[in-house]
Amino acid sequence: MAILVTGSTGYLGSYVVAGLLAGHRDKLNLLVRAKTEQEARERLWTSLQLHFEFPEFLEYLDTRMRIFRGDLTSEWFGLADDEYHALVDTTDSLIHCAASLNRKSEKQCLNVNLRGTLEVIQLARRAQDRHGLRRYSQISTVAVAGKRKDEVVTEDGAIDWERSDYDPYARTKKFCEHMANRWLPDVQKTIFRPAIVLGDSRRPETSQFDMVRAVHFLARMPVLPLRPHDRIDVVPANYVGKAVVTIHQKEAPAHGIYHLSSGRGSQTYVELTEAIAQAGGMRRPLFWPSLDGPFSRTVNWAAKRGGAVGHAASLLKVFWPYLDWNTVFDNSRVVAELGEAPAKFSTYAAGLLKFSRDNHFRYPAKPWPANASAERAAVGRASA
Ligand SMILES: NC(=O)c1ccc[n+]([C@@H]2O[C@H](COP(=O)([O-])OP(=O)(O)OC[C@H]3O[C@@H](n4cnc5c(N)ncnc54)[C@H](OP(=O)(O)O)[C@@H]3O)[C@@H](O)[C@H]2O)c1
Repeated sequence: MAILVTGSTGYLGSYVVAGLLAGHRDKLNLLVRAKTEQEARERLWTSLQLHFEFPEFLEYLDTRMRIFRGDLTSEWFGLADDEYHALVDTTDSLIHCAASLNRKSEKQCLNVNLRGTLEVIQLARRAQDRHGLRRYSQISTVAVAGKRKDEVVTEDGAIDWERSDYDPYARTKKFCEHMANRWLPDVQKTIFRPAIVLGDSRRPETSQFDMVRAVHFLARMPVLPLRPHDRIDVVPANYVGKAVVTIHQKEAPAHGIYHLSSGRGSQTYVELTEAIAQAGGMRRPLFWPSLDGPFSRTVNWAAKRGGAVGHAASLLKVFWPYLDWNTVFDNSRVVAELGEAPAKFSTYAAGLLKFSRDNHFRYPAKPWPANASAERAAVGRASA
């Protein structure tokens, strides 16, 4: 039997897969979008090289990972009947991590988040009915809390159907939680809601850059239209990955929903910009909240220019509601479960920004090695 993980080629999915491989013995069923088996392997190598060297990756690939080439938006993931049944028959728990994070696209969010999650839930339903499912975990987001201002939100107080949402992403992720609750009432479920996931507190490397770009852009502005003592809830990917793996693998976690966030420990803009400026030898921006109007006009203007600055400005526009809401997400449940709080962003932000700038906000992925078949044979001989 195996744990089915969706989204393993993505940023957080790679942390979940790496944590399961390194810290547990379970086999993994991985749903991967690819035209050929080799393309699927190469896509996994691209995401997992953040965590493993090639020989270790190859050994895991050969011994612990089974690839199912499928797409969430196709019925039965587009798998052949026998493959789909094999997936149902061999899945004894499931971590649904895949999603579209294209916040503004109704179409992407509708297709991947709603239709895709419904497919995953139907698979979970079949596995539960056929042989029992140990746990169904779904990666949601704190954005399901909708429009907020100056609040500390608890897990049980987050969903309020009367409240508006900032974007289609938040709206569809909220409904994904609802679907899981309605369709799998008899299954042990865990809903994880990460806050803004940014970098890894143990090392500067990242493979996800959108939010890093937005922070980089903000840190370089001479004046920011933000209140200096507003807080921003940022959490490192390694903490999120550890929480998902640890809690998914527990026999009886204390709760059904966890915020994976910094909560009341979140830092203020002045703390963050001070730390980034000191590390980069720059002056920190001045704060001028009443500049909101001219700032939005500048960002709108920059977003239309294209190029690197235009790209950063358009990302900032998309993320702005989540930067300006001064809302944090109580994390006492996950801190109690893990026995530790997440590292503060200011302790690792400088390294993350430097790595991102040095690599032009692109992950310098190593290709699939030319001598991979020889390495594969060597792994086979060593494990025989
Ligand atoms: N990153 C954050 O700051 C953050 C914060 C809160 C919550 N989350 C949640 O965390 C989860 C993971 O996010 P992430 O940051 O790791 O995103 P990501 O890097 O964009 O990864 C998304 C994953 O979903 C897969 N996927 C998308 N469409 C698919 C489809 N049609 N069929 C199969 N797989 C598909 C992608 O596969 P391909 O590689 O084939 O595209 C990729 O593996 C999501 O549920 C997200 O809502 C993230």
